[in-house]
Amino acid sequence: MKYYYTLIVILCFFSCSKKEQTQNTASGNNAQKYEEVINELLSKMTLEEKIGQTNLRGTSSRAKTLSDELKQDVRDGKVGALLNVMRTEFVDELQKVAVEESPNKIPLIFARDVIHGFKTMFPIPLGMAASWDADVAKTSSRIAAIESSQVGVRWTFAPMLDIAKDSRWGRIAESPGEDPYLASILGKAYVEGFQGDSLNNATSIAACAKHYIGYGAAIGGRDYNTTVIPNSLLRNVYLPPFEAALRAGSATVMTAFNEINGVPATGNKYLLKDVLRDELHFDGLVVSDWDSVIEMIAHGFATDEKHAGELAANAGLDMEMTSKAYEHHLKNLINEGKVSEAQLNEFVRNILRVKFRLGLFETPYIDKSNEVNFYTKEHLSEAKKAAIKSTVLLKNTKVLPISKQTKIALIGPMAHAPLDQMGTWAFDGEKEHTVTPFEAFKTAQVNFKYVSGLTHSRDQSNTQFKKAITTAKEAEVVVFIAGEEAILSGEAHSRSNIDLPGAQEDLIKALAKTGKPIVLVIMAGRPITITNIIDDVDAVLMSWHPGTMGGEALHDILFGIIEPQGRLPVSWPKTAGQLPYFYNHKNTGRPANKEDYVAMYDIPIGAWQSSLGNDSHYLDIGYTPHFPFGFGLGYTTFSYDAIKVSKDTINFNEDIIVKATVSNTGKRVGKEVVQLYIRDVVGSITRPVKELKRFEHVVLEAGETKDVTFTLSSKDFIFTNNASVRAAEAGDFDVWVGPHAASGLKKSFYLQKK
Ligand code: GLC
Repeated sequence: MKYYYTLIVILCFFSCSKKEQTQNTASGNNAQKYEEVINELLSKMTLEEKIGQTNLRGTSSRAKTLSDELKQDVRDGKVGALLNVMRTEFVDELQKVAVEESPNKIPLIFARDVIHGFKTMFPIPLGMAASWDADVAKTSSRIAAIESSQVGVRWTFAPMLDIAKDSRWGRIAESPGEDPYLASILGKAYVEGFQGDSLNNATSIAACAKHYIGYGAAIGGRDYNTTVIPNSLLRNVYLPPFEAALRAGSATVMTAFNEINGVPATGNKYLLKDVLRDELHFDGLVVSDWDSVIEMIAHGFATDEKHAGELAANAGLDMEMTSKAYEHHLKNLINEGKVSEAQLNEFVRNILRVKFRLGLFETPYIDKSNEVNFYTKEHLSEAKKAAIKSTVLLKNTKVLPISKQTKIALIGPMAHAPLDQMGTWAFDGEKEHTVTPFEAFKTAQVNFKYVSGLTHSRDQSNTQFKKAITTAKEAEVVVFIAGEEAILSGEAHSRSNIDLPGAQEDLIKALAKTGKPIVLVIMAGRPITITNIIDDVDAVLMSWHPGTMGGEALHDILFGIIEPQGRLPVSWPKTAGQLPYFYNHKNTGRPANKEDYVAMYDIPIGAWQSSLGNDSHYLDIGYTPHFPFGFGLGYTTFSYDAIKVSKDTINFNEDIIVKATVSNTGKRVGKEVVQLYIRDVVGSITRPVKELKRFEHVVLEAGETKDVTFTLSSKDFIFTNNASVRAAEAGDFDVWVGPHAASGLKKSFYLQKK
């Protein structure tokens, strides 16, 4: 009887706290009440029930029946959360068992990978990063939370915040790109969108900052592979997006598959305890990635399942995804004194705290008060806007925009690929709702003829070439939609050669021979190396995998209804051979430069051995990307003039104002993403040649001029050196304002000692 009294206390506490609670986490005396109630609950739990809470059980979203064994495990309190339960009747039934029959009536959390939309699919995250727009990130995740919470999802495994510098890596598709400043802005926005104004709202879902940490630094871009990340690089590049997500209140964190400097993330006490808990004061729950606990055996870090469980527990992992090292061994590990019950209590506290914050004790069941609303007009409209803002125009020799009456040959394997257009991590998106370019052209009554030319992106046959070429000859413009099927990027899908797969290049070259202008549109999960064909096409648009409304977005861009608005969130390589490449690289002692560089085929035969530029470049492709970080064209042009700094010297507690004049020198209104980069010229460790520190979207009418102003302070120059000193350092600084990382007006100033 006493227990029910406790539960009533809990429920009563939370019903009154719901109104008070405005943050994603309780604050002040609410937080204290939480802890009291959690401790009260903990005191009632047996060791087995505590261990049960640490168990995130994997299930199949395609399961047609609900196993009695799983229900019994829930009834016995052996399960804390469930992954991929996608039938609402199963969610309801399992939650009922937990809340009404389990020993302590603790509700389950239902989790799903809701990465870039649930039913209404938005562009892949790398695409949304190209929007350089926090609102795109926030709106997409808010809509994803609204849609997914309707079927019982209350925890998503997103945002993925892995800085990615290697387009061979399949998961660059899910990443926020190569820059920590842009990634931090997006990470914050995603968390705010998923978690809403308050985590205990029915449409809020717990965010999960993942994969902690350094997953994108995998050697060779090979997924799951080794990373070596010195502490200064960890703190200056990989950690900032996670800090931003935690500051935004991310309720959970997921450990990465990879090892960092020899220690797998899932068993890494320095990262999970010293950094995440002690330094960043994270008080949510940490969950392992799929089986990553027992993968420490394959890593060569654990001898067996039990040892893996011991290492994860002593590192501070709260919840184990899918593997069962905790379920099988935590009780013995505690009895043997290898893990303490106090540690287990801490895990359970973190888990229960998230459940309380989600309001699950008060309202454990799916809110069915509204009719299910997927694919609403508003959701689809936002998905289209996101696709437009994400699309990057890389080349345009005047062929774009196309006038409405133009006769078009629509060709290519991605022109009508409703499933692949959604991209990776689109499990719940339904291809029947995808608007492909073919469908958008048809609906808009465009004057076009469609021939796919290739049945899918990997098609190596040329059997349809003739038909495609004939169609091209009869048209005025060819719109070729190339790219990768969704399965060629995402988890476990790294590629060593990132050219267009199949016979796409051959077909493009064959079409080029017709003399018709070609607009190349790429739908892919990564930058695609197009060095072989760039001269055969007149325009290049990168759509990424643009999601449900990609076809309509592309239609509006092609016909100039709106201009493409994206800017590259990653450097675009000329060849895979130059990867990893990133704009914020170090200068080296022999920085490449155009004065020294001699292209390989220009080297005189028999040249004296040391006669060439002895600096850091490739003989064959030089030392620059094909397109730089931040690059993107529109349908007008801009000029930058008159950069000014408010002072030539500032001290540590002064701001510096940087101003530049931007003009729309074209014939139509346009949007520019004005970017500000700095360089700390000399440091106690070497500093990047450029670092993005500000950007602003500026819309200018044709002929309009505007002064764009940015404010910086010494806080913007803080970095961590190899002595783990985190500070700004006096010295010379350069600052640029411009359209991307490889261009801009430059000024310098001095930060003087205190
Ligand atoms: C996968 C991914 C992770 C995902 C998890 C659950 O292996 O690495 O990002 O959230 O398993 O599906």
